[in-house]
Amino acid sequence: MLSPHCDTRQLPGEGQLIPWCQHSPGLDPMAPKTVLITGCSSGIGLALAVKMARDKQKRFKVIATMRNLAKRGSLEVAAGAALHKTLEIRQLDVCDERSIRSCITGIPNRHVDILINNAGVGMIGPIECQTIEEMKGVMETNFFGVVRMIKEVLPDMKKRRSGHIVVISSVMGLQGIMFNDIYTASKFAVEGFCESLVIQALKFNVFVSLIEPGPVVTEFEMKVYEDAENSDYSMADPETADMFTNLYLKNSKAIFSSLGQTPNEIAEVKELVGVICAAKPPFRHQTNAVYTPMTALKHADPTGALMTDTFYKMVFKYDTLMHVSLKAIKLIRWQARKMKQGVKMLGFK
Ligand SMILES: NC(=O)c1ccc[n+]([C@@H]2O[C@H](COP(=O)([O-])OP(=O)(O)OC[C@H]3O[C@@H](n4cnc5c(N)ncnc54)[C@H](OP(=O)(O)O)[C@@H]3O)[C@@H](O)[C@H]2O)c1
Repeated sequence: MLSPHCDTRQLPGEGQLIPWCQHSPGLDPMAPKTVLITGCSSGIGLALAVKMARDKQKRFKVIATMRNLAKRGSLEVAAGAALHKTLEIRQLDVCDERSIRSCITGIPNRHVDILINNAGVGMIGPIECQTIEEMKGVMETNFFGVVRMIKEVLPDMKKRRSGHIVVISSVMGLQGIMFNDIYTASKFAVEGFCESLVIQALKFNVFVSLIEPGPVVTEFEMKVYEDAENSDYSMADPETADMFTNLYLKNSKAIFSSLGQTPNEIAEVKELVGVICAAKPPFRHQTNAVYTPMTALKHADPTGALMTDTFYKMVFKYDTLMHVSLKAIKLIRWQARKMKQGVKMLGFK
């Protein structure tokens, strides 16, 4: 019989179920899985680190990493009693190979069962107002950061013939959004990289999963709005600058407030933790069902006309309708939350 820490995984095309705990002969199959998460100073990384460290079944030993340890306070508070028991905080900057190596070699036998690539930065605005250096910075973190991490842990996972690599991508890894050109490019790069890698990795019983959230209310959103407010748009023509500040920013804020999820919702059992514990982890997982039709448009019409037409009309022709729909969705979600809390609503059972 398998221990509570073991589940079974089936490789595609192979009939045999592989016990997930059989990673290293000689190791205790009851031992919790070592999970390394990048970017745990805030947002999704912090929520996930805490959720896994406080797992009732004690299935995980979490190494929560951040580039700047001075920011560890919020995580320490949120982790509570789990700190130094099922959660350790370590320094790791995904843009610095030495810091990655030093963190991984500090782990007994360099043994990471589950790597969660969460660290990321955003960037919005007209490309005329962004320097190539700033754009490279986004690629360095969001794309090469993921590549550096995977290069460091994959050889060990292959040797052990066991492991799971999870990457926090985005719906913007599947569909471009106006004024998110560089951020979207970085997430598309990650998606392409993982789509190539997954087949080879599966041969070694290493799983790869891309998590694709829609908007999530975290510091991420605040940081990009702050940057946007302090940016100089004089390099863009007045029409583009106006489109960004008066159309995009307004729409984006409305979308976050109507459709945004919380980091805890992303970390929930049926979302991220669910993917991690699945007997057969999915390669892709979208956390916000509202976005699924949007990301399907390009597959419905390979010429791209359906996708470009729909987005063009949504942004420039039917924006009033879009705002009304967003307000309706916000109200429905508010009612749903209240009902979940047991509040009786007029007209609802
Ligand atoms: N929020 C959204 O709407 C949304 C939607 C879809 C996907 N995502 C993705 O979700 C992931 C987490 O974002 P979040 O929303 O939780 O934002 P967040 O609260 O801003 O968290 C981002 C984390 O990444 C860290 N980070 C940035 N550069 C780093 C580096 N070079 N090395 C190590 N850590 C670094 C940040 O550390 P510092 O505190 O030091 O900056 C922070 O801990 C990102 O990959 C993002 O692209 C977010």
